[in-house]
Amino acid sequence: MIKLSKPNIPEIAITAMNDIIRSGQLVHGAECIQFEQELAAYLDVKHACVVSNGTAALHLALLALDIGPGDAVLVPDFTYPATANAVAMVGATPVIVDVCPQTYCLSVSELEKTIAQWQGPERLKAIMPVHEFGHPADMNAINELAKKHALYVVEDAACALGAVDGHLKMGAASDIGCFSFHPRKTLTTGEGGLVVTNSDEIADKLRRLRNHGMERTDAGMKFFYPGLNYRLTNFQASLGRIQLEQLNSWIHTRKSLAAFYLKKLSPLAEAGKLRLPSSHAGHSWQTFMVVLSDQYNRDELVIKLREKGIETSLGAQSLSSLAIYPNHWNDTHQFDTGSTLYKQGLALPFCELYSTAELQQVVDALIDLL
Ligand SMILES: Cc1ncc(COP(=O)(O)O)c(C=O)c1O
Repeated sequence: MIKLSKPNIPEIAITAMNDIIRSGQLVHGAECIQFEQELAAYLDVKHACVVSNGTAALHLALLALDIGPGDAVLVPDFTYPATANAVAMVGATPVIVDVCPQTYCLSVSELEKTIAQWQGPERLKAIMPVHEFGHPADMNAINELAKKHALYVVEDAACALGAVDGHLKMGAASDIGCFSFHPRKTLTTGEGGLVVTNSDEIADKLRRLRNHGMERTDAGMKFFYPGLNYRLTNFQASLGRIQLEQLNSWIHTRKSLAAFYLKKLSPLAEAGKLRLPSSHAGHSWQTFMVVLSDQYNRDELVIKLREKGIETSLGAQSLSSLAIYPNHWNDTHQFDTGSTLYKQGLALPFCELYSTAELQQVVDALIDLL
């Protein structure tokens, strides 16, 4: 079976992790601090705070900005629900905005429209763009809109470690950036996550909130406010540190594999059978997702591909289609793009460990079945 993706954990990372386990220093410690310094350097950001997973990262980011009941946060329709769940879990309201059919990221024109037409009762407080599958959202336009309307920007860069847009590094291009190290991400620590910021004040809050609201001082533990335990372990950090050294070369390989798919699948696109993803130069290609034309039933195709030994799946969810969040427009407002990507999106096997021969098998199977 050609799996959707495979975690890429080098043997030396396993050895390094075993050494940490043998040392007995299991919880947050020196490895986490080193990992944070290396991540801050990689992202060119002042503060990096490793946490237990990407959802914890989003939760902490919203808590650090004091976002809560009575506040509203703009989120893209097409994403993993963790984006909006974090907003709901701080007691704020997620406001869904449709996405762009090419990039699968927040549509800036829809965002502008939603902000202009917003009538409350909640106060708009923040925009949470998602760099979906590693494609950079339009951070210049989003930051400009945020500035104009005095909104925070919290990037959900869960899938986008290593994605760039010109000189902007995704996740480090706004007030706070959040990453996931889940096994479906290019760099994985099993569970794991990261929050980054250039603000000293926010960083202090993030670190305390991550650790029971506490800071160790010479006089002992000082508790500043109620907090959580969202710490990463030392042995997870050691896994991540070794992978980070190789991340850029993995993304480089992913770019050439994406170019292979784009070329080999172009006849199907030209025949109107599917749409291909946009190939931004700074895409980090966490996932390669095509969009099937309406004539095909995606779920049936997933089964037929599995029968041929190829694992595929939907790409991400559509928050409006899940119907667990309120629709602030009215009952008839449609999120056409997000719901189409959810229904017709097909994520193909993809990661730096695959050869072009394996990808060719996927292409052949698709050509055969479509
Ligand atoms: C866009 C997005 N945000 C947040 C998350 C949550 O990350 P985690 O699974 O590490 O909690 C994910 C994970 O899949 C994601 O894809």
